Amino acid sequence: MKHLDTGIATEIVKGLKNPLASLAPKFFYDQKGSVLFNKITGLTEYYPTRTEREILEQNSGAISEAVGECATVIEPGAGGCEKAEHLCRLLRPHRFVGVDISADYLTAGVNRLKKVLPETEARAIAGDITKEITLPSDIPRDRRLIFYPGSSIGNFDPDQAVKLLSQLRKHLDEQGSLLIGVDLVKSVSVLEAAYNDKEGVTAAFNLNILSHVNKLIGANFQLEDWRHVAWFNQAQSRIEMHLEARRENSISWPGGQRAFAKGERIHTENSYKYTPDAFASLLKRAGFDSQTPWTDQKNWYTMVLARPSSMPRRVGRLAC
Ligand code: AVJ
Repeated sequence: MKHLDTGIATEIVKGLKNPLASLAPKFFYDQKGSVLFNKITGLTEYYPTRTEREILEQNSGAISEAVGECATVIEPGAGGCEKAEHLCRLLRPHRFVGVDISADYLTAGVNRLKKVLPETEARAIAGDITKEITLPSDIPRDRRLIFYPGSSIGNFDPDQAVKLLSQLRKHLDEQGSLLIGVDLVKSVSVLEAAYNDKEGVTAAFNLNILSHVNKLIGANFQLEDWRHVAWFNQAQSRIEMHLEARRENSISWPGGQRAFAKGERIHTENSYKYTPDAFASLLKRAGFDSQTPWTDQKNWYTMVLARPSSMPRRVGRLAC
């Protein structure tokens, strides 16, 4: 065990002991997991990253015009800050604030950003964006842009997503905005290939959560005992990733244990896919008004610019 964080340990153990076992996707991202995820973003089958990049590049003029003057870019889950670099070159904000659960990886990213964009004041904040985060008080509140790319919002079910976006909204004043990347519903074969790549990088990424959990709670998962499975759940409009036991095996950690039958699964990730309308109404529920989104030619992916709704919406108004 690296260092015992009781909150995290409790969360992991609770997921493992559940009859339908689960581990939250945020536990993918130890150092190795972050490197593997980065590798995924370059895979032929994994279209979201390059499609998002294309959308940003092809609409850079319109995006910077729509965002307007922006003093501070805040990116939850900034990781290696590659996307932040691109956006900061475009918007030239005074400062960039990256927030990420994987602190070492983030710090490396922010340090690189400082070198390549010395005029942008860049800082790293280690934090879990699924919890309420407080930003240091010396980060001005005006003209903030929250940049939430990569379709990371897809990891949350719609209710959780509304909660998270409402929380992010609290960091903005009325002039602030949110630029968010969202993966769209498309053919099942394209979706499923993106999470079952030929090289097996996604499989390695999924399995790596077990070695991270071994480190975090002192468990004894053997990675050879598990296999990666992923499919599109139509009814819920989400890719599901699971780890399936290749054979019966028993896992223990200080203070507990769990037996798994052959074929039993641990649910590790959901990746929700939206239609443009479904995402617009999700934003509305979270207190944002969105404008026409930017989309690629195939309509596979979208970037939405949203602003805090100025007035709370009343049911009566909508009814007329
Ligand atoms: C980082 C959540 C956007 O859902 O596509 C990629 C993570 N998992 N391949 C996604 C992921 C497997 C990714 N997000």
